[in-house]
Amino acid sequence: MEAHIAEWLNLLVRWIHFIVGVAWIGASFYFNWLENHLDRKPPQKEGIDGNLWAVHGGGFYHLKKFTNGPDTLPPVLHWFKWEAYMTWVSGVTLLTIVYYYNAKAMMIDSSVMALSPATAIAIGIASMIISWFVYDLLCKSPLRHKPLMLGIIIFAYLAILAFALSHLLSPRAAYIHVGAAIGTIMAANVFFVIIPSQKELVKALTENRIPDPGYGVNGLLRSRHNNYLTLPVLFIMISNHFPSTYGSPYNWLVLIGLAAVAVLTRHYFNIRHINKAVWMLPTALFGFILIMFATMPPKQTALAQNDIISTAKIMPIVKQRCFGCHSSKPTQPGFSAPPAGLAYDKPGVLENNADKINTQVMQKIMPLGNLTQMTDDERNRINRWYRSLKQEAQ
Ligand code: HEC
Repeated sequence: MEAHIAEWLNLLVRWIHFIVGVAWIGASFYFNWLENHLDRKPPQKEGIDGNLWAVHGGGFYHLKKFTNGPDTLPPVLHWFKWEAYMTWVSGVTLLTIVYYYNAKAMMIDSSVMALSPATAIAIGIASMIISWFVYDLLCKSPLRHKPLMLGIIIFAYLAILAFALSHLLSPRAAYIHVGAAIGTIMAANVFFVIIPSQKELVKALTENRIPDPGYGVNGLLRSRHNNYLTLPVLFIMISNHFPSTYGSPYNWLVLIGLAAVAVLTRHYFNIRHINKAVWMLPTALFGFILIMFATMPPKQTALAQNDIISTAKIMPIVKQRCFGCHSSKPTQPGFSAPPAGLAYDKPGVLENNADKINTQVMQKIMPLGNLTQMTDDERNRINRWYRSLKQEAQ
């Protein structure tokens, strides 16, 4: 009952997180695109920086960007901030439901470090708070006058965070907390810097004075950072489906590599209207393929006839180590239905999912948090069973 409610709560919050995240990033992409596509060719009307025509959903739109702002404040002004705040709030709620509520299974991997659940949770929360303070200090330091250098140092900080977390928490918890740290930086940027700088713009307008330029410069810097951080954070949010990324022994390096690929891709789209740096996209694709090959599992030698293992032979291992969660009626507290829909007590489910099972078991992601204490010898037997199936299929 409790597990069932937790699952539905998870569904509700995840759904909300997804929706508001789409709204936030969608708006951010749209305004970025708008800025880059404004027609700024003279002649423009007095006080207008550029304009743009668009057709969408059965109507024509004509947008204008003001050089300094309108003469009087319009009665309705849209702000675009709740998407960001709600994405963060729903994200942290989801983190709590999925990871902190079930910390023993979800956050701890004793082969990485035997932490207590409380310590693991504390590390997770600290990673978000510390990241914001480090990032914010960097942005306020003299480095802010050297945006490229600042960008590189922020990237380096996040790389160190990925390295540290992957040596403390379970692989998936490490990944998701790098994502949560980046998400925290992005939402805090909106809350502490971008929205206040917009408030200053509006205030200056109503007081009929020139806005303090410091605000605008700062807001633009943070909003640029948010723009570059979007693609890495989106990768992390879907990474859970890709065990060869977070499950790799060098998972932190995979994360850094894919983040670099994402930043380069974003950069290409940001600058292509002024500088067609065509080498960027192929380079990003090449980096992606390089990481794909670098994470390739070693080729396995053919099994000798007497090393062949049948499904019946591994059944006792699966019963002991997996059934607690992966059976029609899970007995593990916190599980009301077989996770990922995989109930190994049903005929054919093991064989049909052999690929996934082999990956999850050999990368030590399953059994979750090794709660059921599977041994290395048992893992090797699962691998031999998998290879036996492959060999038979040939
Ligand atoms: C403590 C509970 C638990 C135990 C024990 C457990 N699993 Fe899982 N397993 C899960 C959960 C939870 C998921 C869903 C993870 C997700 O996708 O969020 C899962 C997902 C999977 C998946 C699907 C992964 C995917 O990407 O679709 C496979 C395969 C799997 N487990 C295999 C195993 C095998 C094999 C064992 C036994 C050696 C095992 N699990 C033991 C909890 C468990």
